[in-house]
Amino acid sequence: MVGSAQKDYEKKLKYGKSEQMKLMLRIISVFLVVAVEGCNYREPKISKTLTNNGPTFTALREQIFKNNCIGCHSGADAAMGIDLSDYTELMKSDFGVVTAGNPLNSTLYLNVQSGRMPPGGPRLSDTEIKSIFDWIKEGAREN
Ligand code: HEC
Repeated sequence: MVGSAQKDYEKKLKYGKSEQMKLMLRIISVFLVVAVEGCNYREPKISKTLTNNGPTFTALREQIFKNNCIGCHSGADAAMGIDLSDYTELMKSDFGVVTAGNPLNSTLYLNVQSGRMPPGGPRLSDTEIKSIFDWIKEGAREN
């Protein structure tokens, strides 16, 4: 009796140990996957601002407008008087360039969505277009 109880106890111990090993291996493999994925993963610049309380005007200006628009849309002779280099100047533009809260009534969004702007250049990326949409939707704030 005592002998078999002892055996049972040993079995349990053994079983417990192999379960522990399995768990350890599982943790190690999860860790490896995370480590490898972590190396491959490059977050696109703009999506960082998207996850960080939504895109700001500053992020749009620095990461989209500067490279794609400001050549034609800044200063005294900005195309159609639309100055994308400065929030106050941009909001002065008439004819619904930016209708806060309503991207579908904002030619700023509609023209990049359709690919009309930038003219001749490649269409902005979906993430960039979505960021412009979100910024207007969230109130086109000076942020
Ligand atoms: C090569 C010069 C050039 C570049 C670069 C450019 N634009 Fe334009 N944009 C123009 C001109 C010229 C007009 C006025 C004529 C027209 O609407 O086609 C215009 C018009 C606009 C309008 C008003 C359109 C309307 O129908 O009321 C918006 C909004 C606009 N651009 C946004 C942008 C944005 C955003 C970018 C960058 C992603 C950009 N543009 C890049 C030259 C440019």
